[in-house]
Amino acid sequence: MKSFRFKSGSYSGYVTRPSISSDDELTRVGPKTPCGEYLRRYWHPVSLAGELGERPLALRILGEDLVLFRDRSDQLGLVHRHCPHRGSSLEFGRCEERGIRCCYHGWHFDVDGTLLDAPGQPAGLIERLKHKIQLGAYPVLEYKDLIFAYLGPVEEMPEFPVFDAMTFEDMTMVPYKAPFNCNWLQVLDAILDPLHTSFLHSRIGRVQFSEGFGELGQMDFFERSGFLLGINTRRIGDNIWLRINELVMPNFTQAGSAFAADGSQVRYYGRSSFTRWVVPLDDENTICFAWANFGERGDPLAWNTPEGPELIEQGELFERSYEERQRSPADVEAVEGMGAITVHENENLVISDKGIALMRRLLRDQIRSLASGGPPLRARANSFGTIPTYGGDTVLRMPRESADSEAEELSALAHRFMEIQYQVDDLAETDRILGVTESLKALEAAGMGQIDPDTTPRNPAHKADQET
Ligand code: FES
Ligand SMILES: [Fe+2]
Repeated sequence: MKSFRFKSGSYSGYVTRPSISSDDELTRVGPKTPCGEYLRRYWHPVSLAGELGERPLALRILGEDLVLFRDRSDQLGLVHRHCPHRGSSLEFGRCEERGIRCCYHGWHFDVDGTLLDAPGQPAGLIERLKHKIQLGAYPVLEYKDLIFAYLGPVEEMPEFPVFDAMTFEDMTMVPYKAPFNCNWLQVLDAILDPLHTSFLHSRIGRVQFSEGFGELGQMDFFERSGFLLGINTRRIGDNIWLRINELVMPNFTQAGSAFAADGSQVRYYGRSSFTRWVVPLDDENTICFAWANFGERGDPLAWNTPEGPELIEQGELFERSYEERQRSPADVEAVEGMGAITVHENENLVISDKGIALMRRLLRDQIRSLASGGPPLRARANSFGTIPTYGGDTVLRMPRESADSEAEELSALAHRFMEIQYQVDDLAETDRILGVTESLKALEAAGMGQIDPDTTPRNPAHKADQET
């Protein structure tokens, strides 16, 4: 009879009991929670404009039940879902010439929450109610087919941030959304985890983006003024492919292209495939609202199809059978599979998780700083009124010049690339393109021999921070 032997010292299932307490400081987003308060100091997209018709739309954002509507004068309103009379839901209300009217007893509210009428009541009472009652409302605006809202204290409302990528005239920007049934932070983590592109998106299932992703690269991380950047620098034959993933605190993300670059063709200063925000609906549900960017500097126009944004977002279509999801898992499987809210205590972060560790530290610092009265970090606009960003990819022809491992040189090249970009932050977009492209061509012409890790500042980002 076959004997069953199990080595003692392994099989630690019974004794390795996972902790069950989540990192509430970073993961809870409802009203009055520390992270919820922090996130409420920024503008967030809350809907695709195309989803909002002539009827109100019920939404959940940062744990609040809300209703978004467009009145018949084309004014947008975002209000608390329940009517302050007796709680009927305004998703069943009627959009009026001005504002919205509750379906139950006809109370009428303006887009800013002002009570305009309470029909059937004596005139004196209506006047008193108008002074006493407000429907909770938030500032809301539309920009290129996305609808954004600010859910914080109105006296602290910042300027609406216009990132450079929101203004590129040579890009076709297609709005999309991607839902995740899990906490916002595990969706956000992926942007600073370049290693997963080689495994999840390439080696494990099928090649979901371009071929070059399977190649492991050198990874470098930069932190400067609310920006966190992860650069993956890969040697692909005679070429070097630099791909920059980007997070601007707290939840704005960009990455290199999904399909335009694989390291085989030279590409100067390609920009992000998506311009995207990771928005918590509540503690256990998240939606990414974004534009997919198509054009010479983004993903190829041929990918501008109904499925294109889904494939750019995570390498696979959103609607798939369980078997397909098991055979070729994408980001949604990886991050939802962690559970509704990841327990950080149970993780074992390693060197390739440095970007994630940096981000969580910065997020915690920001949450605590706000709680003690500090101002939240805000990305700085240049003199042209846009915030320079860096997500994108570049491929340079730089043949190997020595047989030794190149890790140090690749890392030094990544630092050089960031210096080049920082230097043109304050120029107009056409001059930035010109300046960066010229510098990249000069780097290429000089070759790998001129990349000396010993004379390259290890983190110009930190250096720049200290100087300003
Ligand atoms: S519950 Fe809205 S008007 Fe009565
Ligand atoms: Fe991914």
